[in-house]
Amino acid sequence: MKVGVIVDDITLHRWETEEIVKELKNRNIKFEIINIYSSPLDIVKRDWGIDVALARTSSATHFRLEAIKTLELDGVKVINSYDAIRRGGDKYVSLSILHHAGIPIPQTSMVASFESTVRAISKMGTPVVLKPVIGTYGRGIVRINDLERELEVLDNLQYPYLVQKYIPHKKGDFRVFVIKDEALGVIRRVAPKDEWRTNISAGGTSHKARLTSELAKIAVKASQKIGTQYAGVDIIEYNRKYYLIEINTQPDFRSFYASTGINPVKKIVDLVEEAG
Ligand SMILES: Nc1ncnc2c1ncn2[C@@H]1O[C@H](COP(=O)(O)OP(=O)(O)O)[C@@H](O)[C@H]1O
Ligand SMILES: [Mg+2]
Repeated sequence: MKVGVIVDDITLHRWETEEIVKELKNRNIKFEIINIYSSPLDIVKRDWGIDVALARTSSATHFRLEAIKTLELDGVKVINSYDAIRRGGDKYVSLSILHHAGIPIPQTSMVASFESTVRAISKMGTPVVLKPVIGTYGRGIVRINDLERELEVLDNLQYPYLVQKYIPHKKGDFRVFVIKDEALGVIRRVAPKDEWRTNISAGGTSHKARLTSELAKIAVKASQKIGTQYAGVDIIEYNRKYYLIEINTQPDFRSFYASTGINPVKKIVDLVEEAG
């Protein structure tokens, strides 16, 4: 069996990629790091010389998604699958699926114009969060506290966008790491001073937290509904209720390991071995 670790220019040198490579070497599994950004993606049937691929690109955006689809069309089994990465990467589609499955999410609308954004915010009531439908690392996300004063923000959005009710999280939010049907553990991420986004990439810090059965239940159900083999599920607690914010289908795990002592890399490579 030969494994392809699928990266882009951003994830090529990440700690997670190095950990995966270390684990593959430890197990004497043949592998190749494939940076999809280094070549054109041709529509031509080809043999990649690998049996299984571990998708470790930085987001579910164009080029990355098409590269993953191409691998599957060429007969490579990809973890997570194209379908799961696509579903999970689109915040509107994933939250819709999860809402229909009975998982609590913040009130959310998708908007495509200045006028409909004003309507959505007026209906929801501030504060709201505006976020790209497909995005990551907290980029492009803004909070609106006072619509009249912040109207100009709406002019600069790259529509379509999501309007979402802001859920206060003074003590941070949760990131649950799920492998197959098991929640491995959870961290609490706390936003830096003068910031409300808790993304580690935006300066958030991670802390040990207790995995309640409810957190585990929501996270596992979400990953089953989206169809991931492993995932990082973002959840905010407010007034003793959990709200699922996002499911990450190519999640980082450095801070998770640092705060919990659990390194998911072994179980991720197990998934790859099982698929091969
Ligand atoms: N509805 C919300 N209420 C409060 N905080 C939010 C909300 N949505 C996002 N955030 C904060 O912003 C961060 C990034 O949002 P998220 O939807 O996870 O997008 P990304 O894919 O960029 O990580 C979250 O981790 C959370 O701290
Ligand atoms: Mg997130």
